Amino acid sequence: MSKFNISPFVKWAGGKRQLLEEINKRMPKNYNRYFEPFVGGGAVLFDLQPEDAIINDINKALINAYRQIKQSPIELIKAIDELDCNIPDDGKTYYYDIREKYNDKLMQEDFDVELAAMFIFINKHCFNGLYRVNGKGLFNVPYNNSRQASYNIENIMNTSKYLKTITILDGDFEYACKGAKEGDYVFLDSPYAPLNDTTFESYTKEGFNKDSHIRLSQLFKDLTVNGCRCMLTNHNTEFINE
Ligand SMILES: C[S@@+](CC[C@H](N)C(=O)[O-])C[C@H]1O[C@@H](n2cnc3c(N)ncnc32)[C@H](O)[C@@H]1O
Repeated sequence: MSKFNISPFVKWAGGKRQLLEEINKRMPKNYNRYFEPFVGGGAVLFDLQPEDAIINDINKALINAYRQIKQSPIELIKAIDELDCNIPDDGKTYYYDIREKYNDKLMQEDFDVELAAMFIFINKHCFNGLYRVNGKGLFNVPYNNSRQASYNIENIMNTSKYLKTITILDGDFEYACKGAKEGDYVFLDSPYAPLNDTTFESYTKEGFNKDSHIRLSQLFKDLTVNGCRCMLTNHNTEFINE
């Protein structure tokens, strides 16, 4: 099947666009299903575009955006257009109003088209395209002063077409890999361990801490024993090598 022309629809911390060449060199040539339990912005997924794939991320707002793009691209585009078209010359107050509304819906776990539109809007209009939440899970990145469009219509429509056959999960990485079998390929791009922090505090709200890395290394071993092909990225630290 020929590939769609797709770029990640959000900028994402730890995105792997710059490393695609290195990742592609090292990945297996043949495999059955593709598993990506830490999909983030999907740089690797959208580059490979495997037909039979299971993707996952613990960030439910992100996964809601994938699901809305898959199921309701036209409604989503309309909702983003409404947000984009109404930005005044000085968009600061407007951005903070949308951020507040977004956080209210997020706290109510109201995962719908409107939340996905706001998620994509704030990703394009927040400083550095960084998705960061505080201890309560509220998105808190400031405005980047831009009035650029939040999306590209062809990109959203192609992403929607591609995602039609893809299974999209929103849980923990271990759960997302439950169905992986012999011959499947699992690409594991977790949050990285800090380079020089011996105390090893967790650094995401969900807490990807030392125990999570140990759990991940056990999963890697189990999947490999079961005949899956696995690739894992991380910092080159003593703890990770161990
Ligand atoms: C390094 S980023 C992945 C970047 C992605 N490869 C890309 O190109 O955009 C790591 C991702 O893991 C997710 N994550 C953190 N803890 C997780 C967990 N316990 N289970 C599943 N996903 C998790 C984060 O939300 C984040 O999107």
